[in-house]
Amino acid sequence: MNTASPDLPHHDTLSHIPVLASEVREALAPAPGRVIVDGTLGGAGHTRLLLEAGATVYGIDQDPYALSRAHALKLPRLTVLEGNYRDMRELLARQGVTRVDGVLLDIGVSSFQLDDAGRGFSYHTDAPLDMRMSQAGQSAADVVNTLSEAELASIIYEYGEERHSRRIARGIVQAREHAPIETTAQLASVIKRAYPGFSKGIHPARRTFQALRVYVNDELGALRDGLQAAEALLTPGGRLAVISFHSLEDRIVKRFLRASSTLRPLTKRPVEATEEEQARNPRARSAKLRAAEKVAPEETTEVTG
Ligand SMILES: C[S@@+](CC[C@H](N)C(=O)[O-])C[C@H]1O[C@@H](n2cnc3c(N)ncnc32)[C@H](O)[C@@H]1O
Repeated sequence: MNTASPDLPHHDTLSHIPVLASEVREALAPAPGRVIVDGTLGGAGHTRLLLEAGATVYGIDQDPYALSRAHALKLPRLTVLEGNYRDMRELLARQGVTRVDGVLLDIGVSSFQLDDAGRGFSYHTDAPLDMRMSQAGQSAADVVNTLSEAELASIIYEYGEERHSRRIARGIVQAREHAPIETTAQLASVIKRAYPGFSKGIHPARRTFQALRVYVNDELGALRDGLQAAEALLTPGGRLAVISFHSLEDRIVKRFLRASSTLRPLTKRPVEATEEEQARNPRARSAKLRAAEKVAPEETTEVTG
C-alpha cells in the first residue's frame, strides 16, 4: 500500500534505508499538525516517513554533505537546519519554535559517510584519516599524532571497549616517531602489527576506529546534551525515540530515561530489528530503539522507576 502524502516527491536514489522504520513511526506517532525534530537527518530516510504521515519536520545535521543532499530533495514541510543536535533548543528557537511533539535521534554515522572513502571513517579503504562529521575541529590524524600514549590508550579503551588498547597506543606512538600517521591504511596496519594473535572474526582496527570517531565527534557528550535538550523541548504527550548502535550509547540513553522524572519509557526493553530487517540491512543488526513519552507536570509525581 502506498501511504505517501500526495505532496511528497517519489523516493529517489538519494534516499537512505531507515533502520527500525515502522517501530520509529509507532513510537513518534507522526500526524498532520505534529511537529517533530529529526536531530540526525542524514539521508532523510526517517524524515521522509514522518513527512509521509503528515508531520512537520525540523531536520538537523552537522554534516555539510548530508545537508546539501537533504536540500536537494526539496521535501515539503521539512526545514533543514545545520548544527549539532545538542544545540537543538537554540536552533529551533531561531525558527520561533519552543515546543515540539517528537524528537528522533538515530545516532552515529550514516552509510553515506561510511561509504564515502574520502571521509576517513573506514579501515576498508585508504583515505586521509579525518572522521569529522562537521568538517570542523580536530581530525582523527590530529588526535593520533598529538595525544600522549596514555591518553590514546584511555580513548581506545573507553570509547572502543578495546582490551588491547595499551598495545595499540604504544604501536601508534612508536610508528609516529618515524612519520606521522596520515591515512586510514597506515593506521589500520599499525593496529594490525600491534594486535596479538589476530586471525579471524572482528577486524583488529574496528574498535579503535570506532573509538577515534566517537572521540573526534564528541558523540557521547552530544548524546547526553541532546537527551536533555529533547526532554526540555518536548510538550507533554510528546515522544522521544533514540536509536543507538553500541552499548556505550545505549547505556547513556537507558540511564538518562531511568533518571528522568518527566519521561516515561514506552518500552521496558530496547526494541531490536526483526530477523527479516537484519537480513535486509546489516546496519540494523546492532540497532536498539528506546522510546519515551513526556508526561504532564501533574503526572510526574505518579511516575515511579
Ligand atoms: C545514522 S545517520 C541518520 C540516518 C537517517 N535517520 C536516515 O534515515 O537517513 C546519522 C546522521 O546524523 C548526523 N549526526 C551525528 N551526530 C550528530 C550530531 N551530534 N549533531 C548533528 N548531526 C549529527 C550524521 O552526520 C549523520 O548524517
